Amino acid sequence: MAEESQVNQMESLNIGETSGNPEAVEDVVDPWNVQTSSATGIDYAKLIVRFGSTAIDETLVQRIEQVTGKPAHPFLKRGIFFSHREMNKILNLYEQKKPFYLYTGRGPSSGAMHVGHLVPFMFTKWLQDTFDVPLVIQLTDDEKYLWKDLKVEEVLKLAVENVKDIIALGFDVEKTFIFCDFDFIGQCPEFYRTMVKIQKHVTFNQVKGIFGFDESSSIGKIAFPAVQATPSFSGAFPFIFNGKKNIQCLIPCAIDQDPYFRMTRDVAPRLNMVKPALLHSVFFPALQGATSKMSASDPNSSIFLTDTPNQIKNKINKYAFSGGQATVEEHKEKGGNCDVDVSFQYLRFFLDDDERLEQIRKDYTSGELLTGFLKKELIGVLQKLIGEIQERRKTVTDEVAREFMRPRKLKFDY
Ligand code: TYM
Repeated sequence: MAEESQVNQMESLNIGETSGNPEAVEDVVDPWNVQTSSATGIDYAKLIVRFGSTAIDETLVQRIEQVTGKPAHPFLKRGIFFSHREMNKILNLYEQKKPFYLYTGRGPSSGAMHVGHLVPFMFTKWLQDTFDVPLVIQLTDDEKYLWKDLKVEEVLKLAVENVKDIIALGFDVEKTFIFCDFDFIGQCPEFYRTMVKIQKHVTFNQVKGIFGFDESSSIGKIAFPAVQATPSFSGAFPFIFNGKKNIQCLIPCAIDQDPYFRMTRDVAPRLNMVKPALLHSVFFPALQGATSKMSASDPNSSIFLTDTPNQIKNKINKYAFSGGQATVEEHKEKGGNCDVDVSFQYLRFFLDDDERLEQIRKDYTSGELLTGFLKKELIGVLQKLIGEIQERRKTVTDEVAREFMRPRKLKFDY
């Protein structure tokens, strides 16, 4: 209770606020920018305080295992999902056999998704498999039209490509509804009504504080946060929830999306609706290291789902920032730094075997293993992961995608 009320107070803070020390260079984390000047990456402990969320600790991870009877996902055990809002409420509901649903999304700014985008989606799939609940996935083609130099027709095409990539991650069609804003919102009066209710209860001042809009921002941008907030409320999907308006929502996403959902949680009680719960992941770094930006428009900044095995190999060998020493002798003497070594950081995300990962960490830190070994290991892991997704992607026809995007009842009764 005390934790909740403190969280509620802190949720009202603006994300751009600094700690009061004018010398401190704050990490920038918002839906459009994730930047740090530190080679070890964003200071996530500080971010939890600034955003007013709660750390995912050992006790919560153990409770997830105990309630589900399944081992926690490596992303939970390794602190990749590191922060939450009200996850205990979700676990209580699950224990009481009461319903909840999952909501996540993607802004289709490029045809190919990168490995960073895989993080929330892979985790969402695990949540769906583990808890057996409905999932809605929003593609904000409208957001990308408003923010990027793209035509409507272009974002529509990108959205469909992204939908296919997402389906290729293995979501269950009986439990999953995927929608693109441009196509769906006009078909669903309940979605539109929920959206306008949110717009009525959030002022320009509030979104200005949260998102940094100003008088020259287009009114499309100013109104957009309500579009991303709407799927957090079950009343927006009457065909799934049989018109029930108060089914709890859980949103897995990377921490950059949190501003949207702080606004959503803030407005929910004013509309007599349930605040969505959240699980936040850290940010997957660019190949060049944590201080560099991973960008869909720079093919060398990351590994993409469309990369060939050779491209994966060449990019990692050429660009993955090394935490090793300048010479082999020096490396053997001083050891490597796993905190900044990009290959090690990537392995933390995608090498499932805990023991192997720990052995690599020890042997690299002691200097026994060289960067080349880590790169080779990572190349193998990513070639396999991406190869499997590409194989499944071949089976995702237009017809399969259309079925995921058809507004329909899922396998759950309400
Ligand atoms: P987008 O397309 O920027 O990102 C899609 C999802 O991937 C996460 N993400 C990352 N995670 C780890 N490392 C990275 N480097 C990285 N880059 C992106 C994002 O946090 C997101 O979870 N506006 C949203 C689309 C959206 C959405 C949602 C996202 C609509 N509704 C609900 C999450 C939840 C966007 O442009 O995401």
